[in-house]
Amino acid sequence: MSQNKFSKIGIVGTGVIGASWAAYYLSRGFDVSATDPAPGAEENLRNLTRSFWEPLGRFGLAKGASLDRLTFDADLGKALAGVEFVQENGPERLDIKRQLLADVSAAIGDDAIIATSSSGILISDIQDAAKNPGRVVLGHPFNPPHLIPLVEVVGGKLTTAETIEQTLAFYTAIGKKPIHIKREIKGHIANRLQAALWREAFYLVDQGVASVSDIDTAIAHGPGLRWALLGPFMNLHLSGGAGGIGHVIDHLGPPIESWWRDLGDLSFTPAVRAEAVSGIEEELKARSLDAMTRARDDVLIQLLSLKSATPTLP
Ligand SMILES: NC(=O)c1ccc[n+]([C@@H]2O[C@H](COP(=O)([O-])OP(=O)(O)OC[C@H]3O[C@@H](n4cnc5c(N)ncnc54)[C@H](O)[C@@H]3O)[C@@H](O)[C@H]2O)c1
Repeated sequence: MSQNKFSKIGIVGTGVIGASWAAYYLSRGFDVSATDPAPGAEENLRNLTRSFWEPLGRFGLAKGASLDRLTFDADLGKALAGVEFVQENGPERLDIKRQLLADVSAAIGDDAIIATSSSGILISDIQDAAKNPGRVVLGHPFNPPHLIPLVEVVGGKLTTAETIEQTLAFYTAIGKKPIHIKREIKGHIANRLQAALWREAFYLVDQGVASVSDIDTAIAHGPGLRWALLGPFMNLHLSGGAGGIGHVIDHLGPPIESWWRDLGDLSFTPAVRAEAVSGIEEELKARSLDAMTRARDDVLIQLLSLKSATPTLP
């Protein structure tokens, strides 16, 4: 097994996330062996990977990449024979994840890595169920993993430093943008950042400050445009002219702190839910949901292509 590149990838669980990962690994030229006990899982997986192939082709397929290199076996042990890197995408339940880690680790070599896609379960809470806990790590993608480059990587208490290094190097080598989370935290990083924004968005609607539609406009036609290109710190640095982020903090720090203290806090009460649902219904009166979703995905692919062709952007 080479340090950064494995030849055969195991996909455990082929639902929304597993099927998308499978298509991505196939597009990067790997043999992919998948497993899922659900009736009709293989047909569903093959249909989904086929439907993802055209957008993946727009980024260029790796040499030798082929949908024919996908194999499927509902028997987990048989599917994972000879696999060097497993991407686990089973149901988000502690007991199921623990059982899956026990089963997966029994089926693979001691040196193989198990990366779980879990959105919220801590590695430290599940890795001791595996035969070799040092090789268990988080590899949390953003939906859909065949398009969105970010993968969040974090080890649990028993994960070795070598596993984390190899996982980061592997994801980088296959064209992903992994980040290393230094310590386990609920919701990882990107979902926490999204949650901070959602909290204020729901709060502003609940307080009658603006409509759902205007808040969507504020982000999609405002800061969101730059957030797709640079992150919050670098954008702030660029806002500061020659003095950069240090100047912004000196200059705007006090008002920003006063906004922080004024930010809202709320729960999803029935009223908050109803306001969001009716706001979305209102917003959708002007356009077709299907057409809008297709356009979002199409423009996203164009944006990703532009970004990957612009090496001066991070
Ligand atoms: N949906 C998202 O936006 C998203 C984003 C990032 C990460 N995740 C994470 O990815 C994982 C999968 O989520 P999803 O949205 O694809 O769920 P999903 O329900 O679409 O897929 C789960 C799949 O696991 C299969 N499964 C059940 N028992 C199994 C077993 N014993 N062995 C193998 N497969 C089994 C199910 O049949 C199903 O196909 C979860 O851990 C979730 O937190 C989800």
